[in-house]
Amino acid sequence: MAAGTTAAVLVLSASPVNAQTTANQCLVCHASLPDAALAAPAKAFPGDVHQQRGFGCVDCHGGNAATPDKSQAHNAARGYRGKPRGPQIIATCARCHSDPELMHKFAPRQRVDQAAEYASSVHGKRLAEGDLGVATCVTCHGAHGVRLVNDARSPAFPTNVAATCGTCHSSAEHMKSYKLPNGSPLPTSQRAEYERSVHYAALAGQRDMSAPTCNDCHGNHGAAPPGVSSLTTVCGTCHTVFQTKFATSVHAQIFEKACIECHSNHAVLAPSDRMLGTAKDTVCASCHEDKDDPGFVGATKMHDSMERLTSAVDSSAALIARVKNDGMEVGDQELALNEARTKLVLARTEVHMFDPAALDAIVNDGTKILAGVDQAGTKALGELAYRRRGLFVSLGVILLVVTALALKIKDLGKEQ
Ligand code: HEC
Ligand code: HEC
Ligand code: HEC
Ligand code: HEC
Ligand code: HEC
Ligand code: HEC
Ligand code: HEC
Ligand code: HEC
Ligand code: HEC
Repeated sequence: MAAGTTAAVLVLSASPVNAQTTANQCLVCHASLPDAALAAPAKAFPGDVHQQRGFGCVDCHGGNAATPDKSQAHNAARGYRGKPRGPQIIATCARCHSDPELMHKFAPRQRVDQAAEYASSVHGKRLAEGDLGVATCVTCHGAHGVRLVNDARSPAFPTNVAATCGTCHSSAEHMKSYKLPNGSPLPTSQRAEYERSVHYAALAGQRDMSAPTCNDCHGNHGAAPPGVSSLTTVCGTCHTVFQTKFATSVHAQIFEKACIECHSNHAVLAPSDRMLGTAKDTVCASCHEDKDDPGFVGATKMHDSMERLTSAVDSSAALIARVKNDGMEVGDQELALNEARTKLVLARTEVHMFDPAALDAIVNDGTKILAGVDQAGTKALGELAYRRRGLFVSLGVILLVVTALALKIKDLGKEQ
């Protein structure tokens, strides 16, 4: 370990000097090679984060960068190691990225556990067994055009991650020899399903960087299917209120996969009141189909409660819109309507306690507010009708006076 650190520090002080005094002959020669694969690393290197920090080809490959002669440059006595493969790739990157002393000179707060985490992942364990089909540092970051992970060009940037993972996980050919613990083929639908989800819509559509992509649920470097214990928290890290409500419910004790039992993992779709209840297309019906089951009774009650509040919100909103259209002042009613809509949002959260009485309490708060709105709305309509009647009466009177005047004028004319 001590030797590694010393070597790294030596490399550090040597590289930038090299870059300034002599040309990097590895780059010069490789950029001119006719074989595209051999030239590509040199072409991708300018702009690479390592190049920007003063590192050169030799910091990963070893060798002598000062000579234009290939055999001297590729000199094993100067540490030349050639092209790293499999576990050698991990060792190449870990030499610096697992060295806190070195890394913290450049990025004081950067984690240095990537290789350790990676070793604990399904990818890392399989690589250690000799499987070269798994992801390594370079399949997710590249080797020569490496960018900061917050650079939109990085394959590890949030909006690019699904495609990066998908290069293998969406390929039936690449994944064909892998199986789930139960022996069935490992699915390759994760990316397609994820791209149908509310999460993808928020991330890619609304650029909401707080929405999850693959690595937010699976870990950046510890990619593994969440185990039973973490299945209950994988959604709760962001949806904390739902998690807290759900934890107190009967289902929390029974469900192996928590939220995922009703919302799925990759294709989390926009929920609606239609998910709730015992009709065929609800999520409850799959378990609660027997009329005598207390869950069936509870689900029916919860469905009816939600319907009571949503239909009350709709009808009050329609009433207030009508009153407003007729030119009456409805500022207070609109405020109260918003308050009732907040109760609706709270109710959809409260659903997760799966306790009909708790849900009813919030629904009743909401309907009480709406009753007040309806009362004010009906009163306003009454006033409007009264005013209109008043208008008709005064119009009638005016008409009578005008007619009388006209008759009078006519009479006067005759007299003259
Ligand atoms: C004068 C040209 C020349 C120079 C200088 C040179 N190389 Fe190469 N390099 C080649 C050629 C040609 C190949 C193709 C394989 C071969 O002929 O050995 C190659 C192959 C490689 C490979 C791939 C080896 C493999 O196992 O597939 C790596 C990595 C590499 N060079 C790194 C370097 C590094 C690092 C330096 C500088 C220290 C360097 N090269 C300097 C010409 C050069
Ligand atoms: C940050 C570490 C790092 C640096 C710096 C680096 N390389 Fe590499 N290089 C790698 C790794 C890792 C691989 C293996 C990539 C893979 O398997 O896809 C590789 C592969 C190669 C290959 C083989 C390409 C092939 O497809 O067979 C060549 C050639 C090469 N590097 C040359 C260079 C040259 C020239 C430079 C400097 C301009 C350089 N490398 C800088 C890590 C590095
Ligand atoms: C399966 C894909 C994958 C593999 C394999 C992988 N990374 Fe990452 N890495 C990521 C993602 C995604 C992020 C970005 C996380 C974020 O947005 O914060 C990341 C972030 C990083 C960062 C930035 C600091 C941090 O930890 O967030 C470094 C440095 C890094 N990786 C190095 C490595 C090294 C070294 C290896 C190999 C030991 C490796 N990565 C393997 C996907 C991967
Ligand atoms: C010679 C030391 C060294 C080696 C070897 C090395 N790195 Fe780095 N790497 C660094 C340093 C230093 C930084 C800059 C950190 C910073 O300033 O944020 C860096 C930055 C990165 C970043 C961007 C991190 C961020 O903050 O967004 C990634 C990704 C990365 N390296 C991946 C790799 C991979 C993959 C390999 C192996 C192919 C590798 N590195 C090999 C030293 C090294
Ligand atoms: C280079 C191809 C490749 C890339 C890129 C890749 N993986 Fe994998 N991944 C594999 C292979 C191969 C396995 C092994 C399958 C197995 O053993 O079940 C695997 C296994 C997994 C597993 C465990 C599956 C299980 O149930 O055994 C998870 C989770 C996973 N990958 C997530 C990811 C995520 C997230 C990303 C992107 C950040 C990613 N992978 C990128 C090839 C890849
Ligand atoms: C919102 C969280 C979340 C996101 C985003 C997510 N996953 Fe998953 N993933 C899970 C959970 C939870 C499981 C385990 C499900 C189970 O045990 O039934 C899983 C399982 C897996 C598995 C194991 C095989 C399988 O299908 O059951 C792979 C591979 C995988 N995910 C890859 C990915 C990839 C690739 C992406 C991005 C395209 C991704 N995941 C996005 C939560 C997520
Ligand atoms: C990294 C944070 C994060 C994780 C992890 C996460 N989500 Fe989300 N989720 C979001 C964000 C952000 C949104 C979109 C904005 C919003 O609706 O608040 C969202 C939206 C949703 C929605 C739609 C809400 C609506 O009002 O339309 C549901 C349902 C959902 N997530 C369920 C889940 C489930 C189930 C899991 C676990 C498998 C999960 N989420 C994991 C952050 C996360
Ligand atoms: C037993 C099934 C079930 C479980 C388990 C479940 N939910 Fe839900 N979830 C629902 C139903 C039904 C709705 C729709 C409620 C409505 O709109 O009336 C919903 C709605 C949501 C919403 C959207 C609320 C809104 O404002 O529209 C989010 C976010 C959410 N759930 C997250 C979670 C999280 C996180 C977990 C785990 C802690 C979880 N759910 C567990 C059934 C479930
Ligand atoms: C994966 C199966 C499953 C799903 C899906 C499911 N439940 Fe349950 N639920 C159960 C089990 C098992 C119990 C405990 C035994 C019972 O009461 O039926 C239970 C209990 C309940 C109870 C408590 C009954 C009582 O008074 O003891 C309520 C309320 C309930 N569920 C409502 C719902 C609602 C609403 C949904 C849909 C949003 C739903 N459940 C979806 C399996 C499920």
